[in-house]
This record gives sequence, C-alpha cells and structure tokens, in this order.
Amino acid sequence: MGTDKETRTVNFNDNSGNNPILIRRCTLEDLEGVIEINEKELPEDYPYFFYKSILDNFNESFLIAVDINGNVVGYIMWRVEKVPAIDSLKIINKGHLVSIAVIKGFRRLGISKALLTKSMEEIKKRVIDEFVLEVRVSNYAAINLYKKYNFSSQSIKYKYYRDGENAYFMVCKAK
Ligand SMILES: CC(C)(COP(=O)(O)OP(=O)(O)OC[C@H]1O[C@@H](n2cnc3c(N)ncnc32)[C@H](O)[C@@H]1OP(=O)(O)O)[C@@H](O)C(=O)NCCC(=O)NCCS
Repeated sequence: MGTDKETRTVNFNDNSGNNPILIRRCTLEDLEGVIEINEKELPEDYPYFFYKSILDNFNESFLIAVDINGNVVGYIMWRVEKVPAIDSLKIINKGHLVSIAVIKGFRRLGISKALLTKSMEEIKKRVIDEFVLEVRVSNYAAINLYKKYNFSSQSIKYKYYRDGENAYFMVCKAK
C-alpha cells in the first residue's frame, strides 16, 4: 500500500454495483496488466522496455486504475519532452500523453477523468508549459474526453498512424 501521495481511492459505480476503483501509481508488477490492456484496447503496441523506461523516468504520472479484485482496468502514461520554444531561444517542457486506455467493461464511469486529473496534477510539478497529445481523427470518445480538459486541436499530423490514419495534435496550456 502506498502513501497518500501515491494512491487515491475513487468511488465509482462499476457495472455490477458500487465497487471502489483505486487510482494509484504503476509499479513493475503492474506492467503486465497495463500491456495487456494496451494490446486489447489500442492498435499501437510498444515493446516492454518502452513501458519500463516511462515507469523509471515518469513514475509519478504513470497511473493505473485497479478494481476491487486487484485487476488493472485502466492506465495513463506521460513523458516530459524538452523542446525549443517557437517564439524565443528558451527550451520549454511539454507534458506528452503517451497512452491512456480503460477496458471495455469499465468505461463511462469517469475512470479516464480521474486518471487525467491526477496525472496532470503530477506532471505540472515538473514545470511544463503545455500538455500535448495525438489522437486518431476518428476517436470521438477520446477527442470528447480531451476537450473536457481544454485541449484543442492545433494541427493535423497526416498519416501519423501505421495504418495511415491522420491524428489531431491537441494542446492544452498549463496554467
Ligand atoms: C477514450 C477512453 C480512454 C475513455 O475512457 P472512460 O473511462 O470511458 O472515460 P470517462 O468515463 O472518464 O469519460 C470522460 C468523458 O470522455 C467522453 N467520452 C468517453 N467515452 C465516450 C464515448 N463513447 N462517446 C462520447 N464521449 C465519450 C465524455 O465526454 C465523457 O464525459 P461524460 O461521461 O461526462 O460525458 C476509453 O474509451 C478507451 O479506453 N478507449 C480506447 C483507448 C483509446 O482510444 N485511448 C485514447 C487514445 S488517444
């Protein structure tokens, strides 16, 4: 069990009743569950070392949602990138959303909102200028979710995905 900084119990109603979902930091032992969800719910797969490097470098914003039986039912992971500012010689930090997914039986319960809220709070502590992400232009559910967090589409990345689909590049200024 982690400290208050690492865990947060969020009371959601899952489909079978009133089971609490725990939002907490991912650990090495949880990676298998995260990878399983990624492979089931998203067409983009990553090698194990990629997850491990996010876990090692950005642990505070690599969060999972766990059901009452201890199963991972959702995750979110970010990385922080240093990039040159467009309007000055400064180097700025961007929080880049790497991936988010919730398994089908647990959707529309507010789990993604909880994962986003908590992880964005954590990533802000690294003094970032903006949050950025790519999303498939057909991914209505995710686009809706990001708009709720004040992300707006800044440009289109053509043929961004391996199957040729375009992505919206969405940005949200960190306040
Ligand atoms: C997108 C996804 C992560 C949302 O997870 P979720 O836990 O169901 O989302 P939440 O319950 O927190 O919903 C938050 C908001 O997202 C939007 N949203 C979520 N699912 C939606 C849907 N099917 N249709 C329209 N809007 C939707 C709504 O605005 C919703 O707010 P509301 O419930 O108050 O209307 C989930 O559908 C998923 O895992 N999809 C597959 C993986 C994926 O596409 N990841 C994003 C890659 S960029």
